[in-house]
Amino acid sequence: MPSEFRLILKHADQPGYTPDIDCYLRHGGYEALKKALAIQPKDLPDGKKVSGPEQIRDEVKLSGLRGRGGAGFSCGLKWSFVDRKSGKPIYLICNADESEPGTFKDRQIIHKDPHQLIEGMIISCYANDVHLAYLYIRGEMPEGAKLLNQALKEARAKNFLGKNVLGSGYDLEIHVHRGAGAYICGEETGLIESLEGKRPYPRIKPPYFPAVLGLYMCPTIVNNVETLCNVRHIVTMGAAEFAKLGTPNNTGTRIVSLSGHVKRPGYFEIEVGKVTIGQLINDPAFGGGLREGRKLKAVIPGGSSAKVFKAGEKFKLKRKVDGKDAEVEVDMLDLPYDFDSLIAAGSMSGSSAIIVMDDSVDIVEALANISEFYAHESCGQCTPCREGSLWMSKALHRMAHGEGRATDADYLVKIADNIPGGRTICAFGEACSWPVQSFVAKFKDEFVAKGKADEERRAKQVAAPKSAAPAERSELATK
Ligand SMILES: Cc1cc2nc3c(=O)[nH]c(=O)nc-3n(C[C@H](O)[C@H](O)[C@H](O)COP(=O)(O)O)c2cc1C
Ligand code: SF4
Repeated sequence: MPSEFRLILKHADQPGYTPDIDCYLRHGGYEALKKALAIQPKDLPDGKKVSGPEQIRDEVKLSGLRGRGGAGFSCGLKWSFVDRKSGKPIYLICNADESEPGTFKDRQIIHKDPHQLIEGMIISCYANDVHLAYLYIRGEMPEGAKLLNQALKEARAKNFLGKNVLGSGYDLEIHVHRGAGAYICGEETGLIESLEGKRPYPRIKPPYFPAVLGLYMCPTIVNNVETLCNVRHIVTMGAAEFAKLGTPNNTGTRIVSLSGHVKRPGYFEIEVGKVTIGQLINDPAFGGGLREGRKLKAVIPGGSSAKVFKAGEKFKLKRKVDGKDAEVEVDMLDLPYDFDSLIAAGSMSGSSAIIVMDDSVDIVEALANISEFYAHESCGQCTPCREGSLWMSKALHRMAHGEGRATDADYLVKIADNIPGGRTICAFGEACSWPVQSFVAKFKDEFVAKGKADEERRAKQVAAPKSAAPAERSELATK
């Protein structure tokens, strides 16, 4: 039977567990930091010395930890790109913007166990020679910002932060910075601009890779809340033990936000790849199945920008069968919930937010809703994204309000195909196009049927005799 595996949220929902430092300390809090600070330099056989921080960086790389913010990039590799020779300060930013629709996992950590995040951040800062770090939290989470500020105050009072942390000679300060509520502030370079006090216009990469030219043009690490919490557990458990959780190349746990038409929407922490999408939706330990009398229609597997899956869709995946490489057909519901399987199936686990849609959903309206969000949130720097996201939203709004055309499906795809693929500064171009491309590709019949029905209805309205009274005319038109 599949079940939750709670590592990050181990204590979060326990009765009596509170976000204050005393409670955290009673549950082993800040022991990982003490362990990290106590790691002594190691002599290698070739005569080289590896410092304590370097050893932590190696452990994070060995653990296989992949970023939990969206792209699933190796955390250890990202840290290895940091320019350590520039002579400039290195900054670390915790990305707590959490604005991908459907996602509500980071806020569970922030609200219920803020010290775990702060401990993860302190260790990550120590490992990367960072002395000033920021916690960028989205504007709509005032309670979270309050809790984090209180937790930082408590950590400072116990000298887990500040000058000479626990007598180690290491100095660190962390500040909370509240965003003003824009989705694009979650994109790391937009976030950095916002933190610098400017409009959150994403920067072009290259040259502005944060690891080299980040905050104030200094080397900067940007990591998600959940990613940084994992660092604390890697130090406690060791990389090898951590890597036993989950599946190869998809190690550790993930907190999945499950929403939509399931009986038990909520957040569930699982070992990566040990639970399938179908189990997350249907198992009593997770979503508990669809509402009575309803059938599954579609699943968005990784936040609103991830490409949608249609119920019954099958994929060819590479698997080991009797020790040999083979291609097997897998139903969408049998896909293991991990980074690689969902990419192989043409979508992504993104921010690990699953949105379930049953057969009561009008697919055109659902896409109109998603597209309106992206049109509103485009920062407007790049013409294809600014104009394209708005054109798609306007066309879908028109369709959702009975003004569709049979050609709208092709029109939408034409716009969506011309936004991403190197034509925009940031990945928002992909994020706004993928829903349109995938919804139309997989439910084209519904888009065309709706457009045709609207055209026919309008034609009847035009043909209705003008002499008829208005009430009669609309009656004629619906016949
Ligand atoms: C449009 C857009 C929005 C994003 N929003 C978030 C977000 O809200 N939270 C987040 O952690 N990452 C977000 N990301 C990803 C970040 O740019 C960055 O890759 C991430 O914070 C890195 O952390 P990780 O390596 O720990 O995953 C977003 C990316 C894009 C393109
Ligand atoms: S792709 Fe869109 S959101 Fe990203 S920089 Fe260009 S206009 Fe802004």
